[in-house]
Amino acid sequence: MPIPETIQRAVTDEGPISFSEFQNLALYDPDTGFYATQGQAGGRRGDFMTSVEVGPLFGAVLANALDTWWDELGRPAPFVVVEGAAGVGTLARTLLAARPRCGAALELHLVEISAPLRAQHPDGVTSHLDLPEGPAHVVVANELLDNLPVDLYELTANGWAEVRVGAHGEGLAEVLVPVPSDDAAAVAVDLRLDAVEQRVPTGQRLPAPRRAEAWLVRAVGLLEPGGRVVALDYFRPLADFIGLEADAWVRTYRHHHRGGHPLDDPSQQDITCDVRLPVGPTDPRTSSQAEFLGRHGIQQLVEDGRRIWAEKAANPDLEAMKARSRISEAEALLDPDGLGGFSVCQWGP
Ligand SMILES: C[S@@+](CC[C@H](N)C(=O)[O-])C[C@H]1O[C@@H](n2cnc3c(N)ncnc32)[C@H](O)[C@@H]1O
Repeated sequence: MPIPETIQRAVTDEGPISFSEFQNLALYDPDTGFYATQGQAGGRRGDFMTSVEVGPLFGAVLANALDTWWDELGRPAPFVVVEGAAGVGTLARTLLAARPRCGAALELHLVEISAPLRAQHPDGVTSHLDLPEGPAHVVVANELLDNLPVDLYELTANGWAEVRVGAHGEGLAEVLVPVPSDDAAAVAVDLRLDAVEQRVPTGQRLPAPRRAEAWLVRAVGLLEPGGRVVALDYFRPLADFIGLEADAWVRTYRHHHRGGHPLDDPSQQDITCDVRLPVGPTDPRTSSQAEFLGRHGIQQLVEDGRRIWAEKAANPDLEAMKARSRISEAEALLDPDGLGGFSVCQWGP
C-alpha cells in the first residue's frame, strides 16, 4: 500500500517527525488512520481480541465493580462513569445488559476518537470525541493507554537520541536525532530514568508515553472526591524493558496476527506499546486482571451460569446458552498467559 499522503507530507515538509506524530497519523488521522478506516477490536470483523469482546462476562463483572464503588461513594445520583476508548460501545452494552443496581443513577459517557466506531455507540449513553469536562465518579479504560502514541529514545555511545521517522525513497525509515544537551534532563524525566536502578546499556530503546501521562493527569483531574480511574492494559515495570529489543514492547497487529515493523504499511496495522510503569500523576495501585475480576465476583457469575445451564440443558434457550458461555469466557479472561495476565492500575481510593 502507498504511504498515506498525510504521513508523506509530514515527513517531507517537517523533516523527520517524532514517532508519536507518525503513530498518531497512522492510527488516528480522521481520513486515512487505521482506526478511522478499518481497525477495531473484536472477533470475526476485528483485528485483535480484547476482554470486552470475549463476551458479556467482562461487562457483568465490571457492573459488579461499579455497584461496589457506587456503594462506597454513598450511592450518588447521577453516578457519572466515563469510559475511555469505548470502541463500538461493547463494554457499555454488556454493562447495561447486566442490570447493575446502580443502573437508575448511572450516567455513562463513552469517549472514542474514531468517528465510525463512535457512530455505533448504543442508545442511552453520551458519546464524546475526547474526555468530557467532568466531574466523574469513575473513569475506566480497557486497552487505551497502550494505543496512545509514544515517543521513542535510544541510548547511543554519545548519549540519548530520539528515534524519529523520515522519508526514505518511496518508504519511511527511522532517523536517530541526538537529544540536545539542553533537553537531556527533561527527556530523562519523561523516560523516568529515576525509576530504573540498573545501568541502561548502550543500544537500549525506551518509550516516553507522554500522551498516556497527559491523559491520566486529565482523567484523575475529573474525579469527584472518592472517585477512581481504572485502567486495564499491558503494563510493564520500567526495569523489565531493560535488555529487551523494542519489537518486544512496540507491537503491530492486523486481522488477529502480529504485523510487521511499525513503519511498514502505515494505517494498515495497529501499533501498540506496553505501558511503562511508573505512569500517571501518582503511583497507582496495581493488580493482575485475574485478581481484579476475582475481587468483583467472576467466580460467582460462572457458578450462576453453570446452574442456569444445568437447569435448562434439556431444552436450552438463549439465556442458557449465554450462561454456559461464561465458563469459556472466564477461562479466557483469567488465563495468566493471556488476558488474565493484563494488569489493572487504579488511581484513587
Ligand atoms: C485497543 S482498542 C480498545 C477498544 C475497547 N476498549 C476494547 O477493549 O475492546 C483502542 C481504542 O482506543 C481508541 N482511542 C485511541 N486514542 C483515543 C483517545 N485519545 N480517546 C479516546 N479513544 C481513543 C481507538 O480508536 C480504539 O477504538
